Amino acid sequence: MVKIGILGVGTVGASVANILEDNADIIEARAGKKIVVQSGVVKNLSKDRGVSIKLSDDPMDVINDPEIDIVVELMGGVEEPYALVKKALENGKAVVTANKALLAYHRYELQEIAGDIPLMYEASTAGGIPIIGALRNGLSANHIDSIKGIMNGTCNYMLTKMINEGAQYDDILKESQELGYAEADPTFDVGGFDASHKLLILASIAYGIDAKPEDILIEGIENITQTDVAFAKEFGYEIKLLGIAKKVNDGVELRVHATMIPQESMIAKVDGVMNAVTVVGDRVGETMYYGPGAGGDATASAVIADIVDIVRGYHGPMLGYKKGLESGLKLLSRDEIETEYYIRLEVDDKSGALATITSALGEFGISIASMLQKPTKDDAIAKLLFTTHTCKESKMQEAIKVLNNLEVVHGNLAMMRIEN
Ligand code: HSE
Repeated sequence: MVKIGILGVGTVGASVANILEDNADIIEARAGKKIVVQSGVVKNLSKDRGVSIKLSDDPMDVINDPEIDIVVELMGGVEEPYALVKKALENGKAVVTANKALLAYHRYELQEIAGDIPLMYEASTAGGIPIIGALRNGLSANHIDSIKGIMNGTCNYMLTKMINEGAQYDDILKESQELGYAEADPTFDVGGFDASHKLLILASIAYGIDAKPEDILIEGIENITQTDVAFAKEFGYEIKLLGIAKKVNDGVELRVHATMIPQESMIAKVDGVMNAVTVVGDRVGETMYYGPGAGGDATASAVIADIVDIVRGYHGPMLGYKKGLESGLKLLSRDEIETEYYIRLEVDDKSGALATITSALGEFGISIASMLQKPTKDDAIAKLLFTTHTCKESKMQEAIKVLNNLEVVHGNLAMMRIEN
């Protein structure tokens, strides 16, 4: 028999305990051993958790219990779970965590501490979708050319509603908080941080890149308006918050931002709260993984898959590479990113304004691919919406500064990247 201790019996923790009980037969048949929850830890013992397991409010009751083989960490946060997971590993216990923030900051230290003790984290990225297993195992024969993912259900839900129903940003954010998709602080969702944690985890497995959130480009969906949505529709794009990891020669681009993608691409069709990740391998070609990125049972499904793997004796390196044998690829700086761009700005509606804009862009070697002009409530001012051909991020950032300072331009312009 294998005994589990759960740190954090919230929605996911309760689902783990209940699924292990309800589906005990099939799980034992697959794992080869009976798996039972020995105890769980919560902060507030007076709250009903809807579980029949023994509960304590002291994490050490799990960490130091000699009968517990596997510690499941579902607390959230970074430093407190780091200290507890470290202690559990030092006590020789295998660990399963769903904590993306913990891994975004401490995955390489944890890998070092874990050594040969299994530390697994399928539930940390895209909830119930087995994307970690796919990258670690199923695609291990491949150099990974790219990963593009919708990894935040809240943003995808909001964008879907804005695009399909014309919903306003503030109303729809409130609705997704009420539906329970959003993080406690929704800035983590709409600002792209939650997705960045997941992208960093995938980038470690795919490329061996040891980066933290502050090392990469992270932008959210806060500045998207119905004007951008209308432009995207007119030019055949969907707007998605994507996490993108892309191999370019000996480097890797890592970025999270709102992205215009062709309406006919598979990932563009992923609507609502669902997540999806496409991975292109050099031998397998394009593969896609789709499913629920959050929710108690879906996330618990991934947690239990890890428990089953550990019970079966899985012993792969935590981040997918044997120490010292990483891919040799380096993180590219934000300035080196190359892509196409969409720009929205308001300009004086008078002769010569357009020429001023295009000549400013020309100074940076940026050429316009398509353009649309829309009236505003003010007759003297027009909205100018355009896309560019591929250029370097550094050039685009310099050009934006210049455009914002032009006399014909009003207010700050908005920019979105395009992935064709
Ligand atoms: N807030 C996250 C989301 C939950 O919306 O996808 C899963 O990490």
